Amino acid sequence: MADLDDVKGGRNFFAGTPIPHRGFFVQGAHSLDWGMKNRLAQIFDARSGRTLMLAIDLGFFQGPTTGLERIDVSILPLLSCADALMVTRGVLRTSIPPEMNKPIVLRCTAGQSVLKELSNESLSVAADDAARLNASAMAAQAYVGAQYEHESICNVAELVDRSQRTGIPVLGVTGIGKDMARDARYLGLATRIVAEIGAHFVKTYYCEPDFEDVVLGCPVPIVVAGGKKLSEIDALWMAFKSIDQGAAGVDMGRNIFQAEHPLAMIQAVRAIVHGNARPEYAFDLYCSLKENVAAPISAVS
Ligand code: 5RP
Repeated sequence: MADLDDVKGGRNFFAGTPIPHRGFFVQGAHSLDWGMKNRLAQIFDARSGRTLMLAIDLGFFQGPTTGLERIDVSILPLLSCADALMVTRGVLRTSIPPEMNKPIVLRCTAGQSVLKELSNESLSVAADDAARLNASAMAAQAYVGAQYEHESICNVAELVDRSQRTGIPVLGVTGIGKDMARDARYLGLATRIVAEIGAHFVKTYYCEPDFEDVVLGCPVPIVVAGGKKLSEIDALWMAFKSIDQGAAGVDMGRNIFQAEHPLAMIQAVRAIVHGNARPEYAFDLYCSLKENVAAPISAVS
């Protein structure tokens, strides 16, 4: 019987006792098949064990978001600094050059718009099309506690079944309704549900306090969403605190492509994710790079 009136949340996450990786560097992936591991190793850098994903998929429910009006102009110059690109198949086929050698995390849910209930979505990409697009992962969102909680959790479960057939891992995203709390109790519940359903990595939000407990309670890697635009220094602090408390990376959108200087910002975030930089150092890096925006970074290398 579930504890409905008094959910007995976990209290002892054995902070200080690292979770063993058991022979493969991506947490929780040791028993997966070669293809799954290979795709995860494209997304996560084996040297740091982390990833810097660039999320540009917001248009699937909120249209031409600021910074995403022209993918060719604003996003392509950033790609060389990202480890992976989270994107819809529409933008991928129309706007991303196939010569790009970055792994694709393909948004595989849709069905709602920003004008209506956000949790009302369905799977929107067949597994064979994800394979045709050479996706390295497929993403679906679970809206725990929202109006369409059941349907959205079933979407993640169905995508996991498809991943077992194709070998393409699943990113489970904890979708959050407009008025829902983003505290450790809720995010711990949502991330654990998504991982138990079988997602191979989970995207969620940073929270204070106790984000470390959210990470420790989730048996697969957590990557942190950027969320609404913050000041550059605040976004760098959020990235730092996420990594410092155990996140395996960030999947950041607006806080990169809506920054005053997106190319400088993505490099500053990268210094935190892969270089363990402190936010003060990363912000200094951002400030010096933005003075030198002509840095010769190839769009598709
Ligand atoms: C929406 C998503 C988006 O990828 C994500 O929210 C966009 O990134 P950001 O929040 O950092 O702008 O998962 O559910």
